[in-house]
Order: sequence, then structure tokens, then C-alpha cells
Amino acid sequence: MKIFLDTANVEEIKQGVSWGLVDGVTTNPSLASREKGKDFKTIVKEILSITPGPVSIEVIAEDYDGMMKQALKIRELGDNAVVKIPMTLSGLRAIKSLKEKKIPVNCTLIFNPLQALFAAKSGAEYVSPFVGRLDDISEDGMGIVAQIKQIFTNYDIETKILVASIRNPVHVLRSAIIGADVVTLPFDVLKKLPSHPKTDEGLIRFSEDWKKIFPSGEFFL
Ligand code: E4P
Repeated sequence: MKIFLDTANVEEIKQGVSWGLVDGVTTNPSLASREKGKDFKTIVKEILSITPGPVSIEVIAEDYDGMMKQALKIRELGDNAVVKIPMTLSGLRAIKSLKEKKIPVNCTLIFNPLQALFAAKSGAEYVSPFVGRLDDISEDGMGIVAQIKQIFTNYDIETKILVASIRNPVHVLRSAIIGADVVTLPFDVLKKLPSHPKTDEGLIRFSEDWKKIFPSGEFFL
């Protein structure tokens, strides 16, 4: 399972990449708005250059012509730029046209399995079900991911399932068990993943016991 960072913050991406955990990045207009006082085009170019894989950048237009124009601008920014298109009828038309131009699309704002099926049929490279936002309204976000996986398996669909709107490590674990292709994580969730209180406790105990044998650290001198 690939791990993407869901951020527009360059420092977070640099740290994640240094840990060897980041395969790609997803951004959206809300994440971009958090990077106040900076030119977003400059930020996007830096993100594209430091990320070792695909970077999703979203169109703002809602009509077909506008989406196409913005998609081509986004793609000009780099070979690893993936165009994020919302799940609407105009969006499906844009996805089809971009597929014909071999431009990869991440279809965003997916909230049910049939939306994912339609995005895949139109030619999306990725579909992004938003699990956290479904959980927020008492629906089962991960249940939707499982249904998408089942449908894609039934029909040998190659479109990748990119689980988005992830809020916690359990979403990540369940994505891996279901067999999702990608999870996109906020930085705080990424940092939590390698941690366990028993690991911290074990480290303290080993350190204390070692000091009983080598109080001044002689072994490594
Ligand atoms: C996905 O690509 C979106 O950027 C993101 O995961 C949305 O998450 P949110 O519901 O936490 O805003």
C-alpha cells in the first residue's frame, strides 16, 4: 500500500520523505489556504520537485471547459502532477478527455461505490473516497471502501483506490486489510503510525538495564 501525505506544507513533506514513508502527495484548495502569505504556484513547484511520486493538484472550475483549461495548466507544472477532478457529470467528461490525452486524474469527493465505478469507467487513474467525512455523518466510510474494492475486483478494474479524509491509524489499518492501493494521510496521522507506548516503555527499560552494566557507556567507547 502506497502512502501519500495529504498536505500542502513543504516542511511536512520533507520530513516524511526523509523517513522513507512518503510515496506521493495530495493537496486540495483548503490545504492550500493554510499556507498563508506564500505564492501557491511556487509551493506547488517545490512540492513536485521534492516528492518521489505523484502529486494531486485540484482544479477549481466546475464546468468542462474550465476544468480542461486548468487541468492542462496543472499538468504543465511537472510530469508527476496528477489532476484532481471532482465527481460530477462535467468532471466525468473531463476525466474521459484527459484520459485520451494520457493525463492522469484523481477523481475526488467520492462518497459512494457507484461514483467510484463511474469515475473508473471514465478513465480515472485514482478514485478518492472520503472516509472521515462519511464517518462524521454517521455513515461507514471504510464500508464504502470495501464495496469499491469488491466492485473493482469483480470487473478487473485497474483504477487505484486512494483512501482520503483519513482521521486516524485505524482507518489506515482497515485500508491495508481491505487492500486499498493508497492512503493519503494528514501529517499528524503519519507521525502516529510508527509509535506504540510499549515501544517507548521497552526503550526506557533497556536503557536503564544497560546503565547497570556500563554506567559510563564504556561498551561503545
Ligand atoms: C483528499 O485528497 C483530500 O485532500 C482530503 O483527504 C480531505 O480530507 P478532510 O476531510 O480531512 O478535509
